[in-house]
Amino acid sequence: MSRYRAWFVDQWGEPETLRLGDAQAVPAAPGEVPIRVHAAGINFFDLLQIRGQYQIKPPFPFVPGAEVAGVREDTGERVFAFASQGGYGERILASANRVFPTPPQLSDVQAAGFLVVYHTSWFVLVERAQLRAGETLLVHAGASGTGMSAIEIGKALGARVIATASSEAKREFCLSCGADRVIDYTNPAWADQVKAEFGGVDVVYDPVGGDAFDLSFKCINPGGRVAIVGFASGRIPSIAANRLLLKNASAVGCFWGNHVMHHPSYLAETQTALNGLLAEGKLKVQIGSQYPFADAPRALRDVDQRKILGKGVLVL
Ligand SMILES: NC(=O)c1ccc[n+]([C@@H]2O[C@H](COP(=O)([O-])OP(=O)(O)OC[C@H]3O[C@@H](n4cnc5c(N)ncnc54)[C@H](OP(=O)(O)O)[C@@H]3O)[C@@H](O)[C@H]2O)c1
Repeated sequence: MSRYRAWFVDQWGEPETLRLGDAQAVPAAPGEVPIRVHAAGINFFDLLQIRGQYQIKPPFPFVPGAEVAGVREDTGERVFAFASQGGYGERILASANRVFPTPPQLSDVQAAGFLVVYHTSWFVLVERAQLRAGETLLVHAGASGTGMSAIEIGKALGARVIATASSEAKREFCLSCGADRVIDYTNPAWADQVKAEFGGVDVVYDPVGGDAFDLSFKCINPGGRVAIVGFASGRIPSIAANRLLLKNASAVGCFWGNHVMHHPSYLAETQTALNGLLAEGKLKVQIGSQYPFADAPRALRDVDQRKILGKGVLVL
C-alpha cells in the first residue's frame, strides 16, 4: 500500500474535529513491523489525548489510537500490537517488541480490543494489588473495557467478584463477564450495601475515581488495597492518610503504560500468562461496541457519553 487513510488530530479538540486524511506509507525501519490494520481498539484515554488532557501530548498532526490487530505486511502473519499512537489508520509501523501473534481464540476485532485493557488489569491485580484466590474483589465500572477485563481476570485468579455499573444493561453485561454480584453505584448507599452483604472487600479496582473512590474506603477490609486505575468520572480524589492508617489499608497507584516503558520484557511475560487463560477459555473478550472506521468521531462521542459496552473497536 503506497498511501493509506487515517484519522488526524490537527489541534486539541472534540471528537468531531478529527480529520480523515491520507498519508504516504514509509518503509519500516529496523525494529519496526508494518501492519495492515483490520481493527483498532478504542480507549478512554484516546478521548483525553485528542482533547490535550492526557499525560502524553504528541506534536501535531498525529493519529490517535494505541492498539491494533491485522496482518504483517511483510509475512502475512496475523498480529496485534500496542503503540503509543497511530492506531486509527489503515497502516501502522509498530515496535517489534510490542507486536504479538494473534491468539487463535481471538478474532481480529477481539484482538484489537485485548491488549491495553487485559494487560492493564493483569498488571493491576497481579503486580500491584496482589489479589489472592479466595479474596473479594470489587470492580468499579465493570462494563467498561478495563472493568470487564478485571472481572474476568479476577475470576480466573480465584477471587469472588462484585462489579458496579450505572445501568441495568451494564450490570447484565457484568454478569455475562462472570461477576458473582452486581451493584448500582449511582445509589450512594452502595458501599453500605456491600458492607452489609459481604462484610467488606479486599481489593477495589477503580478506573472511575471521584465518589466511587471515596466511598470505597467505607467497605474496604483491614489490609485491603484500593487500586487507582483511572479517573473516568473526571474528578481526581484525595484521601486523608488516617483512613489508610485506621484500616491498615493501601491506596495503590497503577500506571501500566509507564511500567511497560521501564520494563520492556513485561509485555511479553504478561501476554504469555494471558495466552494461558485464553487457552483455558477463561477470557471472553466481549466487544460490545463495534463501529465502521468512518465513524471514529461517533465512537469517541459514545465513550464521552459512557455508551460503550465492554470494549469499543473500529472495524476497517
Ligand atoms: N492506569 C492505567 O494504566 C490505565 C490503563 C488503561 C485505562 N486507564 C484509565 O481507566 C479509565 C477507564 O478506561 P476504559 O478504557 O475502561 O473506559 P471506558 O470503557 O470508556 O469506560 C469508562 C467507564 O467509566 C464509567 N464512568 C463513570 N463516570 C463517567 C463519566 N463522567 N464519563 C465517562 N465514563 C464514566 C462508565 O461506567 P458506568 O456508566 O457504569 O459508570 C464508563 O463505562 C480511564 O480513566 C482510562 O484513562 C488507565
